[in-house]
Amino acid sequence: MSENTTPASHVLDRVLVLEMVRVTEAAAIAASSLIGRGDEKAADHAAVEAMRKAFDGLYIDGTVVIGEGERDEAPMLFIGEKVGGAPGKGPKIDIALDPLEGTTITAKAGPNSLAVLAAAEEGGLLNAPDVYMDKIAVGPGYPDGVIDLDKTPTQNVEAVAAAKGVKPSDIIVCVLDRPRHEALIDELRDIGCGVVLIGDGDVAGVIAVTDEDTTIDLYMGSGGAPEGVLAAAALRCVGGQFNGRLLFRNEDERSRARKWGITDLDKIYKLEELAKGDCIFAATGVTSGSLLDGVKRRKGGIMTTESVVMRASSGTVRWIKGEHRI
Ligand code: FBP
Repeated sequence: MSENTTPASHVLDRVLVLEMVRVTEAAAIAASSLIGRGDEKAADHAAVEAMRKAFDGLYIDGTVVIGEGERDEAPMLFIGEKVGGAPGKGPKIDIALDPLEGTTITAKAGPNSLAVLAAAEEGGLLNAPDVYMDKIAVGPGYPDGVIDLDKTPTQNVEAVAAAKGVKPSDIIVCVLDRPRHEALIDELRDIGCGVVLIGDGDVAGVIAVTDEDTTIDLYMGSGGAPEGVLAAAALRCVGGQFNGRLLFRNEDERSRARKWGITDLDKIYKLEELAKGDCIFAATGVTSGSLLDGVKRRKGGIMTTESVVMRASSGTVRWIKGEHRI
């Protein structure tokens, strides 16, 4: 079989899944020199440039479907940009990426900033416009449909508590600390829930529901739609449930969505509709957090990284510690 006729079901086999980690590692290392320097733009720019360059080393014919913005807004890694070292020859892969998820966190040296990407067969990832998304997520092991965005926060907490065999007041919910979430936070506290407020970084916030060590049962609230697709790709690999509904603030945002082929603007997206078929999720910690350790500069020019790479078809999760002699 010639290289450009790879059957879709084997597309990701042809890509060294582990190679995706090189890409997130490169972005994380580049951003790490800007940790705590108070310059969000510079940190983001460093991560973007490094990620763009690292893609050249992969034998793929990649297309960015979620990236740094539309072509006229972003010089690099814009939506529709071709990436990879084998255009027209390698397997066709769609890529959702956020070279620096948590620009403010990085600038302020806070927890949980990541370099992150998801990859799927062509057409496998929702081309989400850069608007907000209302999100709710729960970890693996719950009956299908235990969460439902059409229900109230209280009803969702009660359903998860009943399935877990605990009281609603035992449930811990992670929420982005934003004024728009005031009513949500009040409602959760009124029923006795513990609310873990995060300053930024809802990809890590959503993934936290899959790790019992975090003690977080549920993720709720609105954040970026692109981040929703990235988090959904991770949950496709490790299990859990997710509902997401796009939120539009004006007609311009609605028309952006229509441009990407979205016709039902009120649709609730579940995991398979955000990331379908086989997919890969890879992330490297920039600053340390619940998911990953951050980049550390050691003596002797050594930098250490911690990454995770997951694959939906096998459910394999690999934690990778890197030592880089720069
Ligand atoms: P950036 O990396 O673009 O700074 O995004 C950080 C983030 O916290 C995301 O994790 C989240 O989805 C989004 O911002 C929330 O948006 P907002 O800050 O407008 O509430």
